[in-house]
Amino acid sequence: MNITGLDTLVFAVDEVDATATYLLDYGLLPAGAGRFEALDGTAIVIAQRDDPQLPRPLASGNALRKTIYGVPDAAALDAIAAELLTDREVRRLPDGSIEAEDDLGFCLGFKVAVRRSIGLGAEAINAAGAAPQRAPNQLGVDTEARPLPRALSHIALFVPDTEKGERFYIERLGFRCTDRLVGAGPFLQPAGTLEHHTLFLIQTPPHMQGIEHLAFHLGGPNEVFMAGTRFAARGYQSFWGPGRHTMGSNWFWYFNSPLGCRFEYDADMDLHDDTWIPRELPAKADSTQVFLFQAREKWAPVGGPPPAAGQQHA
Ligand SMILES: [Fe+2]
Repeated sequence: MNITGLDTLVFAVDEVDATATYLLDYGLLPAGAGRFEALDGTAIVIAQRDDPQLPRPLASGNALRKTIYGVPDAAALDAIAAELLTDREVRRLPDGSIEAEDDLGFCLGFKVAVRRSIGLGAEAINAAGAAPQRAPNQLGVDTEARPLPRALSHIALFVPDTEKGERFYIERLGFRCTDRLVGAGPFLQPAGTLEHHTLFLIQTPPHMQGIEHLAFHLGGPNEVFMAGTRFAARGYQSFWGPGRHTMGSNWFWYFNSPLGCRFEYDADMDLHDDTWIPRELPAKADSTQVFLFQAREKWAPVGGPPPAAGQQHA
């Protein structure tokens, strides 16, 4: 099963206009019909909760209605259809995609991937002892830059049975486990990508089933910090970050959203091939973050009262 990554996530929402504003402020680009795209064409689609075109909701009522994965060609699509048809209904939709449910009840779609090449470089740094990546007079900071999400990266799902879910994605859809947070669940990688994870399953009670967060890639940590700082300045509530994860090594910054899940900006995720041996770490805060930043309003005693007794300036 040659799945290359996430393609589109479909949500049912109560406030379409307010949700659209959130997605635009996050940095996605409007593409019409409730579709909001990253630079490579991967997307979030929103619709009114009672829209009859939407797949039926989970019993939990979670806003995620469908997760669409991309495949490279029609042959890969046919292979998935043949595999799933052995024990469940597979629907062919007018747009050429297929639709079926996983073993946990999530509605899945599969289609020839929309991802397009975006031809952007990575963030360049100058490091002592290494050849410069930025030429003389090429600045590392552009205060006017507005980094945009480049690509839909991954989702984390709250599920009532991570073992059942892991079996389905590995045995039926060809995913691999790259790492595991013991007590939470596995990080899963489809066969058509080397990225550390596209799917992370987290064990929860059944009434919580649904999407916990989704993430879009940015161009590097500087872009994560700039996009997150700008998003926070617009009044959106930071949930966790900025920081850097242990498993996957991705930089992260999570925000609350009106879509019933968190939105993460991320960058610089590890790549793994099939020689990688999955690690296991206990699921606690210390095993998921290498470090975490804390904003400081003011760092120098300029233009204001002196620091309180006991506070030191570096
Ligand atoms: Fe994440």
